[in-house]
Amino acid sequence: MLERTLAIIKPDGVKAKVVGEIIRRYEQDSLNPIAIRSTRLTKEQAEKFYYIHRERPFYGDLTSFMSSGPIVVLALEGENAILRHRDLMGATNPVEAAEGTLRKAFGASLDCNVVHGSDAPETALEEISFFFKDEDLTLFG
Ligand code: CMP
Repeated sequence: MLERTLAIIKPDGVKAKVVGEIIRRYEQDSLNPIAIRSTRLTKEQAEKFYYIHRERPFYGDLTSFMSSGPIVVLALEGENAILRHRDLMGATNPVEAAEGTLRKAFGASLDCNVVHGSDAPETALEEISFFFKDEDLTLFG
């Protein structure tokens, strides 16, 4: 099934200059970037984006980290994009991530885990519209 998913290259990935390498992996795996932008979240925007985690003990640190520097946000499109992107990212904790995954290659810790990806079709829709307007998503037809 042709799907779309949201990917975020987190502040640690931008700082480590692995944006190009990560986008190359997406293109190579036919997770086609149909929209890309760089931005920097305010603390409030990060809290809104991660609202689902508001009761978790890591919410404060996570939202501080995600607003600590620029990020690169991508809408990716491809067959089974949501699951395939999650496979390419690897486990949330880079220590547990499999060889060949982005988090194994570039992640340092639970917060500094380099990339975020949507986990289901409904969240993908919500997360894509958090960052992109409809007209941003039509360039590739
Ligand atoms: P992400 O896919 O962006 O979604 C929520 C983020 O919370 C997750 O990646 C991690 O970077 C971060 N996080 C920090 N601590 C934890 C934890 N104990 N369990 C899950 N996620 C955590």
